Amino acid sequence: MTEPVRIGVVGGGLMGKELLALTGRWNALIDHPARPSVVALADTSPAVRQWWEAAGVPTVAADYRRLLDDPSIDVLYLAVPHDLHEQLYLDALAAGKDFLGEKPFGIDLAAAGRIVAAVDAASCFVRVSSELPYFPGAQRAFSLVRGGALGQVLEVRSGLLHSSDLDRNKPINWKRRKATCGEIGVMGDLGMHVAHLPLRLGWQPQQVYALLDDVVPERPGPDGAMVPCDTWDNAVLAMKVDAADGRRFPMLWETKRIAPGQRNTWFFEAYGMDGGVRFSTRTPQTMQVFGFVDGQQAWSQVQPGHRSAWPTVTGPIFEFGFPDALLQMWAAFLAERAGALGDSFATATPHEALASHRVFAAALASHDTGNSVSLLGDAEPAQH
Ligand SMILES: NC(=O)c1ccc[n+]([C@@H]2O[C@H](COP(=O)([O-])OP(=O)(O)OC[C@H]3O[C@@H](n4cnc5c(N)ncnc54)[C@H](O)[C@@H]3O)[C@@H](O)[C@H]2O)c1
Repeated sequence: MTEPVRIGVVGGGLMGKELLALTGRWNALIDHPARPSVVALADTSPAVRQWWEAAGVPTVAADYRRLLDDPSIDVLYLAVPHDLHEQLYLDALAAGKDFLGEKPFGIDLAAAGRIVAAVDAASCFVRVSSELPYFPGAQRAFSLVRGGALGQVLEVRSGLLHSSDLDRNKPINWKRRKATCGEIGVMGDLGMHVAHLPLRLGWQPQQVYALLDDVVPERPGPDGAMVPCDTWDNAVLAMKVDAADGRRFPMLWETKRIAPGQRNTWFFEAYGMDGGVRFSTRTPQTMQVFGFVDGQQAWSQVQPGHRSAWPTVTGPIFEFGFPDALLQMWAAFLAERAGALGDSFATATPHEALASHRVFAAALASHDTGNSVSLLGDAEPAQH
């Protein structure tokens, strides 16, 4: 039985438009329990509202209250700048709406803590956006690690690398200002993507040492005059994680807006005494698996194909890309909401977002003091 799901979008910019586009590809999913349609948009920008009107979305409003007060809307997608997350997410919960909220799920740790407390107290189904782990190569790497392929864990690395900020003339936008992006800067923008798989595998950082870099301090404003660009551009976090054998292994998270040559590279690597995995969206059709062949150390290159978390009509030999990852995330979100996800890979949880914020707040403290910062006693319960 397929349940129609009426979705209202708050924030019809880059990500809101992606959702509208992907609902048009919903038929690619096989036997999905839900059928979403985007029925409403709220956005304060007249130009954005015009775009959504032209796209034929029935309700287009400036004030998001219109969507919150509409009992015919089942689910909200909340995709606005970070300084607006807390109020909007709390309002959505107070209105009793289920939602997928964009990361970082609050502008800072305090805001995320208040949102997650309200989620825990409500009976709404709420998850956090993070789609890149849905690439088939990432899914394969995750399954291998969860199945114990590493043995004793040696080291974990994950990252999301951009490079468009190499252009010093790129105009300022809200993501490059502390007031709207948050003190955590690039970590708020890219960090949840990097944290999702490690946290899902139960790798809670116990100690954090951060290297934060603000490379470009000003950018052209709307009238061409230079204005402050006061967010962290690049962040490298070196962490220690408790291992099952009583040791602590190193984990590195890299989030960079200025990584020369990397347009939008997400990667996950995990190494152990018995095996290893490597996947990068830069080479999305392959992932690498380490093991022993005839007693020799060997990295094998595997082509996982278009084998998605939720099955699709798409041929297994065809290439998988960013819009497919988003489709898979929404498939997982709506299937879990319908109680039909089974043991398939679930969307990031509010508690995982909160755990990532704890790390980012510790990273700021580490930068300020020049020391590593302990997270002992702060950790979220491991989620598998
Ligand atoms: N999951 C991902 O891969 C991914 C990628 C990019 C951005 N994001 C996240 O999505 C969110 C939005 O980012 P974006 O890139 O779409 O930004 P964007 O600037 O393209 O869009 C944001 C929209 O929100 C609107 N807006 C601002 N104030 C509003 C209000 N009070 N009510 C309604 N609408 C309002 C703006 O007019 C704009 O259209 C952020 O949390 C960001 O971190 C996620």
